[in-house]
Amino acid sequence: MGRNLARNLARNGFRVAVHNRTTSKAEALVDEFGDEGDLTLARSLEDLVGALERPRRIIVMVKAGEGTDAVLDELAPLLDEGDVVADAGNAHFHDTMRRHEALARKGIRFAGVGVSGGEVGALEGPSIMPGCDGDTYAEIGPFLEVISAHVDDEPCCTLIGPDGSGHFVKMVHNGIEYADMQLIGESVDLLRRLVHLEPADVAEVVRGWNDTELESYLVEITAEVLAHTDAETGRPFVDVVRDAAEQKGTGRWTVQTALDLGVPVTAIAEATMARAVSGDTTRRDAVREALAAPEEDPAVADDPGLDPDDLRAALYAAKVVAYAQGLDMVRAGSAEHGWDVELADLPRIWRDGCIIRARLLADITDALEEHPDAPSLLATPDFAAAVTERLPALRRVVAAGVAAGVPLPVFSSVLAYLDALRAERLPAALVQGLRDYFGAHTYERVDREGTFHTPWAGDRVEVDAG
Ligand code: 6PG
Repeated sequence: MGRNLARNLARNGFRVAVHNRTTSKAEALVDEFGDEGDLTLARSLEDLVGALERPRRIIVMVKAGEGTDAVLDELAPLLDEGDVVADAGNAHFHDTMRRHEALARKGIRFAGVGVSGGEVGALEGPSIMPGCDGDTYAEIGPFLEVISAHVDDEPCCTLIGPDGSGHFVKMVHNGIEYADMQLIGESVDLLRRLVHLEPADVAEVVRGWNDTELESYLVEITAEVLAHTDAETGRPFVDVVRDAAEQKGTGRWTVQTALDLGVPVTAIAEATMARAVSGDTTRRDAVREALAAPEEDPAVADDPGLDPDDLRAALYAAKVVAYAQGLDMVRAGSAEHGWDVELADLPRIWRDGCIIRARLLADITDALEEHPDAPSLLATPDFAAAVTERLPALRRVVAAGVAAGVPLPVFSSVLAYLDALRAERLPAALVQGLRDYFGAHTYERVDREGTFHTPWAGDRVEVDAG
């Protein structure tokens, strides 16, 4: 990705010096693509620093974690006050906050820049989520905005907020990406197992979805992957790939952070857990053997009970919930860290360039702009109506999958989340009662203010515990 970002900058007329620890890689980049623009080889970090105008603007793109710290430790002593270093990797936002602080002590300005779009996006225009101080953005923003994707001349790049906010938002973007992919996966599984379509036929259905409200990059490439035939075996490609989904960590970080913030991102959590289940092959093998596979209900076999139009509607509603949960999390993270993130900016800069780009994002932008104080995207009028309308379809889809033993962790969790948010009363009241019973943890009442405890082992006459 780093190499493509450098090419993108050069193609846009910026003078770029490139360095890689393995000099031959930077050399190859300059040899191969030097005619695309002004690309200069820097054989060492000293050369790189020497080649740049001041204040220097350096983009670091290395493996997140220790790799980034190692580069920054080497780079910092070579820099001057006011220079800017932008980390464009998938760093954990806590690391970014730490690095921002450490470099600020040396007078070096640091930006944590989320970049989405994969290798092609990096070259042709990614979605960029920079987190830094305003004066730092003044140095790097103009470059980033030019190389980012554009929608109607508007760059898919804007200052998200200070220090770790850009990487926080990129992390949540990836969490939504996990949920979106798992939902698409569950939809395809339903079409294969309940409607008995072959991958190539599912590809046609999914291709059709891309002409609807579901239009998105992930839906588009799903059709391509499903239609692909393995050259060696002649079998559908998806049937020769081992069904164990891996992850580099951003989904896990999203869930861990959501738990710390107390924000229910159930769709993202279930999608992350679904990857863990898929990769847990030893346990899968053992349990598959120990527990007989669910028997297909003859009624289900005769009538799959799955209307593809229901599935399309359910997928849309579930996607909306995944986005709503991700946005809730950014709202909470921003409040926790005092970042003042403008929520509507996120769907706006995700409209193109990034992996979760989708037609839906323009509508989400409008909804958040019109209702900036809505506590949830689901409470904005248009999305409330869109989800309400599709709720019966979502319920039928989940019911059909459950009846046939098709695992639908994200679809089911989305339905449960919506039902929980819509319920007048939740069993949480009983949970509070149980907590009070065994641990004197107290409870509140619906009919008056205060904190109460019932002496369960004594006379059971409620006492004021405030
Ligand atoms: C992007 C992608 C990118 C990368 C993920 C994959 O926005 O361009 O999200 O960041 O592909 O890191 O993450 P997993 O390996 O965890 O699926």
